[in-house]
Amino acid sequence: MPIEGELVRLRPLEPADAERYVQWLNDPEVTRTLTVRYPLGSEPERAIIERMAKHAGYRDVNFAIEVRETGEHIGTVGVSDSYRESRWGTLGIVIGAKEHWGRGYGEDALREMLRFAFWEMNLDTVRLEVYASNARARDLYERVGFVTEGRKRAAVLRGGEQIDVDVMSVTRAEFEAQYGAPPDLRERKVLP
Ligand SMILES: CC(C)(COP(=O)(O)OP(=O)(O)OC[C@H]1O[C@@H](n2cnc3c(N)ncnc32)[C@H](O)[C@@H]1OP(=O)(O)O)[C@@H](O)C(=O)NCCC(=O)NCCS
Repeated sequence: MPIEGELVRLRPLEPADAERYVQWLNDPEVTRTLTVRYPLGSEPERAIIERMAKHAGYRDVNFAIEVRETGEHIGTVGVSDSYRESRWGTLGIVIGAKEHWGRGYGEDALREMLRFAFWEMNLDTVRLEVYASNARARDLYERVGFVTEGRKRAAVLRGGEQIDVDVMSVTRAEFEAQYGAPPDLRERKVLP
């Protein structure tokens, strides 16, 4: 069940995607702003993807991001660790194909992921953690409505230095104030 954004399509992960993830997650320029630090081989990555695909659901949902125009697989976006009682989950996004950074694909993928989180999973809040120094990602999150809740000081070791990590979140109401409420299904003639 792919989700069509303006520029990207979100589709289920496939085991055949593993090779690309291995390439991206062994690229220091991509992992510099992620907690990934150990080398990762094709077999374990394939097993991880198969497990994620098998258990995809409310607790953990991950989509592959494809460029609509070409069908090229460029990254992944997902929401994990959601609990029905608290109605919030944790967002993660990586555009691993770095030649595609800065083209608006991240923003489009995030917007569609948030619509899914609020309108299909019924979450109230989507939260994330981002390195305080990751200006590109922080700019993007702010653009789609995330606000900074606070800073974990010297929280993660990166390149020999303990760096700060910011906690950011967006609520459904904040998201809808920016992007609009869900369209009326009757107008879309989906319902009789
Ligand atoms: C963060 C990431 C998802 C952004 O995706 P993207 O497709 O590049 O995002 P967009 O093109 O939609 O938006 C990027 C915006 O950041 C801003 N930006 C670009 N380069 C920047 C820089 N060096 N410093 C600050 N801001 C920058 C711009 O405003 C840009 O938007 P614009 O060029 O359209 O004006 C992607 O770069 C990525 O996957 N990085 C590596 C993994 C990562 O850091 N993930 C997030 C972990 S919390």
